[in-house]
Parts: sequence; C-alpha cells; structure tokens
Amino acid sequence: MSAPPELPEIVSRAFDVSRRAGYVSFCRNETGRLLAALAATRGGTLAEFGTGCGVGTAWLRSGVRNGARILTAELNAKLAGAAAEIFTDDPQVEVLAADWSTLAEHGPFSLLFLDSGIPSEVTVDRIVDLVEPGGIVVLDDFVPCEMWPPITAGRVDTLREGWLSDERFTAVEVMIAPDASVVVATRR
Ligand SMILES: C[S@@+](CC[C@H](N)C(=O)[O-])C[C@H]1O[C@@H](n2cnc3c(N)ncnc32)[C@H](O)[C@@H]1O
Repeated sequence: MSAPPELPEIVSRAFDVSRRAGYVSFCRNETGRLLAALAATRGGTLAEFGTGCGVGTAWLRSGVRNGARILTAELNAKLAGAAAEIFTDDPQVEVLAADWSTLAEHGPFSLLFLDSGIPSEVTVDRIVDLVEPGGIVVLDDFVPCEMWPPITAGRVDTLREGWLSDERFTAVEVMIAPDASVVVATRR
C-alpha cells in the first residue's frame, strides 16, 4: 500500500493549535477526508456543531468551494478562541463561541457535521429543519455493527437507528476504518 496522502496545510495548522491547547478530541483523518470530499460538492452554508480545536473545520475548509461558507459553534469559549486563530483572515469560516442551537437562524445548511459528542441532542427530529433539501448530515464515532438494529455497548444505538431509518432522509453507514463508521444522511 502506498503512503497516505499528505495532510492539507490548513489541517496541519489545526493539529498544531490542538497540540498547543493540549486538546485531543478531534475527528479521525478518515472522517476528515470524507468531510472534505463532501464539502467540495456543496454551495451555500455548511455548519459544524462542536468545533473542538478546529480540526474537523479545517478538513471542511480544505474541500469547500469558493463562495460557500462554514459556520462552526463551540460551547467552550477557550477552545473556540483557539480554533478561531486557525481561520483568522479567512472570510469563508466563522467560529462562534456558542451553543450550536444558536446557529439555527443561519440555516438551513447544505452540509451539517454533528460532532458535539452528545448523541441525545442530535436526533433527526431536532435537526431535520436545519438541513436544506439535498443537504447532507454527517455523524461520526460509530462502531461498525452487522446487526439490525445496531447495538453499541450492549444496547440498541437509537441515534444511529433513527438516522438510518427516517424517511425524511436517505442515509448510509460508511465504514471509514475497520473499527469506525460514519453515517451520511441526505435530506429528501
Ligand atoms: C468531539 S469534540 C469536536 C471535535 C471537532 N468537531 C473535530 O472534528 O475536530 C466535541 C466538542 O463539542 C463541544 N460541544 C458540546 N456541546 C456543545 C453544544 N451544545 N454546542 C456547541 N459545542 C458543544 C464540546 O465542548 C467539544 O469541544
């Protein structure tokens, strides 16, 4: 197998900021590459719920088209400040130190990366009106599972089950690594 491609420069910068902040909760590179590829198909406004230190945002930025913009919300003001450093002078990215729910007024979004780490907050019912028709929702951090309904830690994974079976979306679970999967759901 050949070596994986180099990281985009903006993603390397985000990793430097993360390291300096001592923050390690960022999306995997496999998820990041998927986000970049999806972002490259989008116009309008893309959003991320849960910025962390900006690694996922940087992956989105690496793929985004001219004219589209990315809004990302982070509850922790210190982390939001660190992430904002990465995108100083970048008119296509805005980092807000805020609860993600405050982004609702800027929707509906063409792509939504749900990454606040609180599954109960990102059910289909709560999110559906924030996504434009044809818009894409991405959720990561699932463990691949061959059973239906999907089981995580001995319990039905109701979040994954909900996103994969709701008729308002056409959704697929994509394995990005042997131990990790992502749900991609497109609004009908
Ligand atoms: C898994 S980390 C985000 C990682 C980031 N998306 C990345 O890929 O690098 C989850 C972040 O969501 C933030 N968070 C949790 N609840 C939130 C909320 N209601 N609004 C905004 N951010 C939230 C947490 O503070 C944490 O920094």
